[in-house]
Amino acid sequence: MAPIPKGGTVAVTGAAGFIGGWIVRLLLDKGYRVRACVRDVDDESKTTFLKQMHGYASGRLTLYSADLDNDGCFDGIFTGCHGVCHVSHVSDYDDQDYVKRVCDHIIESVNKAQTVTRVIVTSSIAAVISEADMQELVRRPVCYEDRYPDEQNPKRTPERGQGYSMGKVIAQRVFSEAAEQNGNWDAITCCPADNVGPIQSAHQKNMGPWQHNIEMMLLGKYFQNGAYRPWMTVDVRDDAECHIGLLESVDVKNGERYIAWSTDTRNVEDICASIDRLLPELGHDTPEVTDSFPERVQVREQELRAIWAGCELRNDRIRAILPIRFRPLDESIRDCVESLLYIARIKPVVRDGFKQTV
Ligand SMILES: NC(=O)c1ccc[n+]([C@@H]2O[C@H](COP(=O)([O-])OP(=O)(O)OC[C@H]3O[C@@H](n4cnc5c(N)ncnc54)[C@H](OP(=O)(O)O)[C@@H]3O)[C@@H](O)[C@H]2O)c1
Repeated sequence: MAPIPKGGTVAVTGAAGFIGGWIVRLLLDKGYRVRACVRDVDDESKTTFLKQMHGYASGRLTLYSADLDNDGCFDGIFTGCHGVCHVSHVSDYDDQDYVKRVCDHIIESVNKAQTVTRVIVTSSIAAVISEADMQELVRRPVCYEDRYPDEQNPKRTPERGQGYSMGKVIAQRVFSEAAEQNGNWDAITCCPADNVGPIQSAHQKNMGPWQHNIEMMLLGKYFQNGAYRPWMTVDVRDDAECHIGLLESVDVKNGERYIAWSTDTRNVEDICASIDRLLPELGHDTPEVTDSFPERVQVREQELRAIWAGCELRNDRIRAILPIRFRPLDESIRDCVESLLYIARIKPVVRDGFKQTV
């Protein structure tokens, strides 16, 4: 199917979110018209940053209230759009019937619009690497687009914490099949890694979770990451570039998925220490890590760290189709910290006796 035309109209779901907000901004910067879909246009705490974007004043950016839990909420909004970036979370990843129902009604709105030629479905690296059995990462350590979690593992259930990655795989498949059936649009899946970078609105400090974790580090508390996994990162601005690049690409095909990550990884304790290294002017008092894992996980720390260290992160596929240069993680951490201070007014803990020079 056709990529979206330059200056065309794109609807973005989850537009008040961390990633969605950057997709909106970069689409506007590139000359597109944007329909930003949020849950509640009148929730000023979440939408003011969108209304302050330049395109809002001229009408190139318009905002719509649409709650995914209401079937048909995108009817009309998608009419006239060339592309859709479906970035939003859903209310419950553990209820697979609900996940499918949400996909179905979004698809119905896309079909009814008759103008959309491409939909980007935001998935996650969880749909690539989230394993019920960590040994599966030893057996298949290369993390690339055709790698899926072992779907035959009987422990892969929402009850055992796999609802998110299962829901993402379901959405990818439901959209691809629907696009194939319709024949007039295609569905491309983007699997972002751990997004780090600047927030644009104070409310985004609570989301993520990665920017929220950096907020907690600034406040003097941080926790060991899931199963000692290092952060596997992408800058949120590069993630947005990937989404837009996929809308524009002439090389992608329905059903394909692309991972958006720089392939940089860093252990959580090193992320925390990076704050003082990158911004010594702040005097950040680097806190100790809190390991709140149960004993049975703690005793496996070395083994689990070794499994993650053996994973090979690949981004060849997205680099082959997009002229993207992923930012280094240091830049993303620095910009995230500064945005938390400047936009969310976070007051970091500082070392005893430290005096800021300004
Ligand atoms: N952040 C990451 O590191 C990361 C990594 C991998 C994948 N992803 C995926 O990327 C997408 C965006 O993540 P994010 O970090 O930008 O999340 P976020 O900041 O929490 O934003 C998600 C948005 O989803 C919207 N939303 C949730 N439930 C909704 C509903 N029932 N109806 C309408 N909107 C609803 C929220 O809208 P309102 O604000 O208007 O209430 C929110 O703005 C998600 O699909 C996530 O799974 C994120």
